[in-house]
Amino acid sequence: MNPHVSPEFRPIPFIDVAAQRHRLGARIDEAIARVTAHCQFILGPEVAVLEGELATFCGARHAISCASGTDALVLVLMAKGIGPGDAVICPSFTFCATAEVVALLGATPVFADVDEATFNIDPASLERAIAQARRLGLKPRAVIPVDLFGLPADHDAVAAIAAAEKLFILDDAAQSFGATYRGRPLGTFGLATATSFFPAKPLGCYGDGGAILTDDDELAALVTSLRVHGHNADKYDNVRIGLTGRLDTIQAAVLLEKLSIFRDEIVARNEAAARYSNALGNVAIVPRLPRGLASVWAQYTIRLEPGRRDGLAAALKSEGIPTAIYYPKPLHQQEAYAHFPCADGGLAVSERLAQEVISLPMHGYLDEPTQDRIIAAVQRALSR
Ligand SMILES: Cc1ncc(COP(=O)(O)O)c(C=O)c1O
Repeated sequence: MNPHVSPEFRPIPFIDVAAQRHRLGARIDEAIARVTAHCQFILGPEVAVLEGELATFCGARHAISCASGTDALVLVLMAKGIGPGDAVICPSFTFCATAEVVALLGATPVFADVDEATFNIDPASLERAIAQARRLGLKPRAVIPVDLFGLPADHDAVAAIAAAEKLFILDDAAQSFGATYRGRPLGTFGLATATSFFPAKPLGCYGDGGAILTDDDELAALVTSLRVHGHNADKYDNVRIGLTGRLDTIQAAVLLEKLSIFRDEIVARNEAAARYSNALGNVAIVPRLPRGLASVWAQYTIRLEPGRRDGLAAALKSEGIPTAIYYPKPLHQQEAYAHFPCADGGLAVSERLAQEVISLPMHGYLDEPTQDRIIAAVQRALSR
């Protein structure tokens, strides 16, 4: 930090990984040093310990760590034999990996719209997407609801539709490990849940990482095999085509330390979100949580009338306050995905949200003075 810059103009980080690093201090150095001492860099003891703790944290029977959130999604789809002719329904307003994994396997992502209040998959549009897939001669096999920005999707509605249509559910909780739906932690909805430990995620490591959570013994055994080249009990006897999809031992050691303070951080994120919402509700559309759902606030995202957010971003930037747009284009409008089908009736909400959303700094170390600086700057810019 530059001591010559007065506090009211000091740049504020969007996500303060350094503050957390400072809090954990020597514990991180020691955790990494233990790995560099025992030298079991691949599937060392920390990996199994972490998997046990992740499973306990969310109440799932199995946690299988892997190399990224994208690998977590693809490993489950590979285990279920998803391929050409299959349709997998995904929301369009999400990060590309949700649909990318479907296309990678030669299957067809079919895009559904989202609910404008929660940004999560709209159950009515999910039904229309399934019908559209059938009309196109595809076999609807699965739905990937996304728990966007840390907030659980409408899991009861998704589960009812999936059961009626005989689809399995792969929950994309890349942004939302630690969130709860009617008191139940994510990780236990549908057949399996995929999460990411990318550094900017609520529970992030110091590189890439991810995990699959499931209660299904057979699926757990399959993804464990697939993440190491499809091996059998003997590692040089391969019985299926897989990948190099393991989590590094060093990342597991880092995550174990971070998991020990994660509950505190979730509380701090919720306090920050509540203060933002109290202060900004009169100048912007602020997020409102459906009853019974708890977010981990991977992002704090407000909505403005179209045309207003560039001005807000510029005004905040001039005061050292970063913002981000998640996401400026829904997937069905991006070049790589535009040829895939959409639910009948179009995806008007996803298209509108892409014009309206803007995210403010959010993390577990946002102290009140810093937050007040952000709030005052947003209020000033939007009252002009
Ligand atoms: C909704 C969603 N799905 C999947 C992923 C993929 O995770 P990773 O970057 O760890 O591969 C991300 C990560 O940004 C994400 O936000």
